[in-house]
Amino acid sequence: MSMGAANMDVLVSLSKRRGFVFQSSEIYGGTGSVWDYGPLGVELKNNIKRVWWRDFVQQRADMVGIDASILMHPTVWKASGHLDHFTDPMVDCRECKRRFRADHVDAQPWTHYCPATKGNKFTIPAGEPCGHCGQRRTLCPECGKGELTAPRQFNLMFKTFMGPVEDEAAVTYLRPETAQAMFVNFDNVLQSMRLKLPFGIGQAGRSFRNEITPGNFIFRTREFEQMEIEFFVNPNDRVEGRPADEYWHDRWIEDCMAWFLRYGLAADNLRLREHEHDELAHYAKRTVDIEYKFPIGWSELMGIANRTDFDLKQHAKWSGKSLTYFDEERKEHVVPFVVEPAAGVDRALLAFMADAYREEEVRGEKRVVLKLHPELAPIKVAVLPLLKKRDDIVRAAHAIRADLAKHWRVVYDDTAAIGRLYRRQDEVGTPYCLTVDVQTVGDTERGERGDGRVTIRERNSMEQVRVPVPELIAVIRELLDGAPWPQVAGRYPSPRS
Ligand code: GAP
Repeated sequence: MSMGAANMDVLVSLSKRRGFVFQSSEIYGGTGSVWDYGPLGVELKNNIKRVWWRDFVQQRADMVGIDASILMHPTVWKASGHLDHFTDPMVDCRECKRRFRADHVDAQPWTHYCPATKGNKFTIPAGEPCGHCGQRRTLCPECGKGELTAPRQFNLMFKTFMGPVEDEAAVTYLRPETAQAMFVNFDNVLQSMRLKLPFGIGQAGRSFRNEITPGNFIFRTREFEQMEIEFFVNPNDRVEGRPADEYWHDRWIEDCMAWFLRYGLAADNLRLREHEHDELAHYAKRTVDIEYKFPIGWSELMGIANRTDFDLKQHAKWSGKSLTYFDEERKEHVVPFVVEPAAGVDRALLAFMADAYREEEVRGEKRVVLKLHPELAPIKVAVLPLLKKRDDIVRAAHAIRADLAKHWRVVYDDTAAIGRLYRRQDEVGTPYCLTVDVQTVGDTERGERGDGRVTIRERNSMEQVRVPVPELIAVIRELLDGAPWPQVAGRYPSPRS
């Protein structure tokens, strides 16, 4: 029976308790703007990046990848427009000195000292007026006392210095997006790989933004990871009767949506949002966001933009290098258009966790389970001995773990009774638990031989079957490759009750 779903506090607490995400520098009081991935978080995050790379780079004949540096030539950011345009309007509270994004102030609950109730303090829901005096928010939403300054533009790039001299000539920036490396390496990749349009370059890596109001756990942070693709097309081509850039834009929207569905996000929690004309970034002809119903409400999970030829033209202008493609058919040089599917790794991780989280009632007890797609699950298999005092059982369990660990992340645990061990693995999304028991190894004192089988328990259904140890790797591989549990389980007997 299903009892409940995830809210942000539950996810933050589970993340800390079970080693997914910790507050960065927590022993020094922490910071709300950056987070550290713990032993299970790093596995989940790596799995997300790995399947993204496999599905969108490795398996596609029209894609290649790069891994560029975070520090780039400062002129990159002049050419890209980030120095001039990558700004948010900010306002400051004159009283408590807190800083807000001007366009976010009304999206948060506000503190109000109500004159109609002798100045009593209320917290009023975002965007609503006070129910007693009817006033709307004009003062600082946090302290409820200070006037807010007029909005000022604030550049979100982190500034630093390259080399030993800290002067203006040495100023550079931490990249605020991974995308620009694909544009500045366009010609290197084109020439070295002898590519034909259309083709794309993918990259996963860190980006940095000095967000004015980071928050909501790992949703908006100042250091995060992106998985971005720049897909270059010939603007003179037509595909299925449509301009190639528009055709490929729609194709990428479909492919990205299908990808999130494939790895377990519920269709009801996903939607597309078309950017209004006045909210389009300075480079974009059209942008569509994939939004997810996060515990904080519908918000951007990724964006898919048609950036036209803006970036290549800008970098050609500022670098003085030609960034064109020779169209053999038309015998002319063209500047490719680019379609950009840009996803955030941390946001994807938050969405996968939120979607997978379930509270269920099983035989009168609460069970928390992360129904993560097996490919994403941080631990694929847990090997659990039923009796930790029996050396032969423990030895067999360790041997099985070591064997499976050559292929996947597999853990051994004997620190509690079996019911509790199962619950622990359910809570972190482990799709398969193996138990090694007396039946596996036999009982020499009674002259009983073991059957050489272990019990595999499947996380979602909690069903169990007995599988011979030599078949374990093949069976786990089959399951992780997507074979349905009933199909595999149907070949094996259930445990004796
Ligand atoms: N190159 C285009 C680009 O960077 P974006 O919409 O600014 O576009 C793409 O970023 C994705 O990166 C977002 O959809 C989001 O998933 C992630 N992202 C952006 N800023 C972030 C932040 N401060 N914290 C976490 N993820 C962020």
